[in-house]
Amino acid sequence: MERVYINKISEYVDKEVTIKGWLYNIRSSGKLMFPEFRDGSGIIQGVVSKKEVSEKVWDDFSKLTQESSVIVKGKVTKHPKKENVYELQVTDLETVQIAQEYPITPKEHGVDFLMDRRHLWLRSARQTAILRVRNEIVQSIRDYFYKEGFVLFDTPIFTPNAVEGTSTLFATDYFDLGKAYLSQSGQLYAEAGAMALGKVYTFGPTFRAENSMTRRHITEFWMMEPEMAYYDIDDDMDLIEDFLEYVVQRVIKNCKAELETLERDITKLEKVKKPFPRITYDEAIEILRKKDIPLIRKTANGEEHIRPFPWGEDFGAPHEEAIVEDYDKPVMVHRWPAEAKAFYMKRDPENPKICLGVDVLAPEGFGEIIGGSQREDNIDLLLERIKEHNLPEEVFDWYLDLRRYGSVPHSGFGMGLERMVSWICNLEHIREAIPFARRPNRIRP
Ligand code: 4AD
Ligand code: MG
Repeated sequence: MERVYINKISEYVDKEVTIKGWLYNIRSSGKLMFPEFRDGSGIIQGVVSKKEVSEKVWDDFSKLTQESSVIVKGKVTKHPKKENVYELQVTDLETVQIAQEYPITPKEHGVDFLMDRRHLWLRSARQTAILRVRNEIVQSIRDYFYKEGFVLFDTPIFTPNAVEGTSTLFATDYFDLGKAYLSQSGQLYAEAGAMALGKVYTFGPTFRAENSMTRRHITEFWMMEPEMAYYDIDDDMDLIEDFLEYVVQRVIKNCKAELETLERDITKLEKVKKPFPRITYDEAIEILRKKDIPLIRKTANGEEHIRPFPWGEDFGAPHEEAIVEDYDKPVMVHRWPAEAKAFYMKRDPENPKICLGVDVLAPEGFGEIIGGSQREDNIDLLLERIKEHNLPEEVFDWYLDLRRYGSVPHSGFGMGLERMVSWICNLEHIREAIPFARRPNRIRP
């Protein structure tokens, strides 16, 4: 009898199969029992009929507890009423282990209770659906860049310097060499990669010591960062939209069952087709001013609401939501106030107060999923920026070499994987987008 996975069960109608998995749930009504089995690939309902199975099998089923590990045999049938649903007419059961009383039951639990048991919570239908979507996103990213001729370029996690501001660095002692910092972004190394290989991307864990408890921040997240030689900011935005369309459309195609489990409105994702709206920062704050959305600043005794939204400030969640509200695609906001952005962004040749940066805001209020820019390729201007940002010049010496030896215009961007997962899966909170979320108040399990 062939061992099969539940997500392939439709290929085995009327055949006898073996499933190796766990008991997800069980109901009984007199001489029938309806166990639900899961095997990691999906869930299937079994039917156990007292008159069809041996006494031992019937008794063994009555002893099973939630999450007991089991090997079951039976015949696959089509559900009498529901389309594309299959059942297993059970003939045999082998109990691998009777599980102790399982802490997570089908009733509602609080989020902290579940996060404390994240290692078990991961087994639920919803969590496995999210993790399968995450897997498809990652695979589609790798396939996209491979087919487009990019080279995967792995960058270090131990680094001697900041990339995205010194206030969010995690430091650790590094032998006799002083402090090392956990990478906030692989970008600076990716720039070296682009000068060597033309088009590269990095994909790895990144760290931000942001003591913020929002629904969109974790302290350890995965970032994918392409970097391209001879690309300007417009080429960068062309790539972003082509890439996002590919990933989203592929997830819709390959993760139908998962998106259904998550009750995701797919019609919203289907609209993610190029071209995407491109608006300047100035146009974005016009929208905020029209909608009368203030800048909110924390003060000693509460909050201060500043109207109209002042030029030069970065956006928070309410601003991002208001900007995308009237669009049904990701919105690319470009040409930012230089003072609000990182030191490496190139100034707009037409206006030195502006830098050639772009943020991509996901629709439906999911906020920033991508940040990118054209990079400063002039060594004198770059040195000025490093000084302005009070960054230690000596640790950037190798980075400045990229401008000393064959400097070219170049651009790139960074996509936060968990933000993508949150948007595509329609998650309330980013903590469900990664197997084990790290937040300021959580490092276990
Ligand atoms: O906008 P950021 O800070 O850009 C960079 O790091 C650039 N060096 C990228 C580049 O041009 N190569 O971060 C990029 C993305 C954000 O848009 C967001 O999706 C994600 O990384 N991100 C976070 N995701 C989860 N938790 C956090 N604390 C995040 N901080 C940034
Ligand atoms: Mg950003």
